[in-house]
Amino acid sequence: MDPCISVSGLRKSYGSLNAVDGVSFDVEYGKVFGFLGPNGAGKTTTIRVLTTVVHPTSGNVRIFGQDIVKHSREIKKRIGVVLQEPSFEANLTVERALELYGLMWGMPGEKRRDRARDLVEKFDLASFKGMKNDELSIGQRRRVQVAREFMHDMDLLFLDEPTVGLDPAARRMLLDYVKKHVKGGLTVFFTTHIMEEAEYLCDEIAIINKGRIIATDTPAGLKQRYGGVKAVEIRLKDSTAQSVMHIIRPIAGASAIETPAEGTIRISSAEAQEMLVRIIESLSKNAVQIESVSVNPPTLEEVFLTVIGNEKS
Ligand SMILES: Nc1ncnc2c1ncn2[C@@H]1O[C@H](COP(=O)(O)OP(=O)(O)OP(=O)(O)O)[C@@H](O)[C@H]1O
Ligand SMILES: [Mg+2]
Repeated sequence: MDPCISVSGLRKSYGSLNAVDGVSFDVEYGKVFGFLGPNGAGKTTTIRVLTTVVHPTSGNVRIFGQDIVKHSREIKKRIGVVLQEPSFEANLTVERALELYGLMWGMPGEKRRDRARDLVEKFDLASFKGMKNDELSIGQRRRVQVAREFMHDMDLLFLDEPTVGLDPAARRMLLDYVKKHVKGGLTVFFTTHIMEEAEYLCDEIAIINKGRIIATDTPAGLKQRYGGVKAVEIRLKDSTAQSVMHIIRPIAGASAIETPAEGTIRISSAEAQEMLVRIIESLSKNAVQIESVSVNPPTLEEVFLTVIGNEKS
C-alpha cells in the first residue's frame, strides 16, 4: 500500500529563495509526523504545498497515493488543516462558527449538531460559546480554530503550531484529543516549537533547517543519535560527595561534576552511562554505600539545538 503522504525532491522557490529545498519523506497511515525547525525553516511552506494551497516549484507529492497537482480536488475533501495564521469570522459566535463550518463540509444536520456539542465539551468552549470570535482571547480563539476543523471527518490533518497561545491544560487536552483520533486511524502532520509536545505526540520527527531536512527518526532514535550529553546522578548513603571526589574525579576525567546536594553527585558526559559502571565498581571497592543512581536521558530540545547547531558550524 502507498504511504499516506509521499514527498520526493520537493522544492518551493520564491524568487531566488528556496523556501523548501528538495525535501523527501513518507508518512504512513495512522501516524503522527512532526516537522520541527527554526523560524523560516520551511515548515509552513511545506504544509501549504501539501494542502494544495500553493503549487510546488518541482518535485513530487502524492497524498493517498494520488498526485497533489492532478488530484487536488479529491485530496482536499479528505484532509483538514489548521493554519498557523489565525482565521475566523469576527462576527460569528463560537457555536454558529462550528455550525457553519459543518454545513460548509456538507455534514448532515443531526450529526452536525451532535459534533458541535461534543466539540464544545471536549475543547472546553462552553463558557464562551455564545461570544463572538473577535471578543475572545487569543488562546480561546485558537481553541475554536482547532475544534472547528474536527467538525468534519477526515483522513489526514495538518496542524501548523496548533498550541500557540494555549494554557497548559488546554494544550494537553488538545494533544490528547488528537491522539485519540490517531488511534482511530487519523494521520497527522504536525509542527511545533515545543519539544515536549513533539515527543508526546509524534511517531516520527523530521528536523528541517533552511528548507532541507537534516534529520529524521523516532523521538527516541533522535535522542540516541544526537543527544550527546547525558547525566548520571549518584546518591550516596552515608558519605558526602566531597569525601569520594578522589574516587570519582579520575574516572570522570574532564566531564562536568556537580554536587546538587551534600550526598549527591551529578556527572554530565556523552559517556556518562559507561562511567557509571566504573564509578559503582570503584565506590563499592572503597566500601562507599550507594543509596540510588539515575540516568537522565537527553531531552529532545537538546537534540534539536545540537542538530541545528551542527548545521551552523
Ligand atoms: N509568500 C512568500 N513569498 C516570499 N517568501 C516567502 C513566502 N512564504 C514564505 N516565504 C519565505 O520562505 C521561508 C520559509 O518560510 P516558512 O513560513 O515556511 O517558515 P516556517 O518554518 O513555517 O517558520 P515559522 O517557525 O516562523 O513558522 C522564509 O524565509 C520566508 O520568508
Ligand atoms: Mg510556520
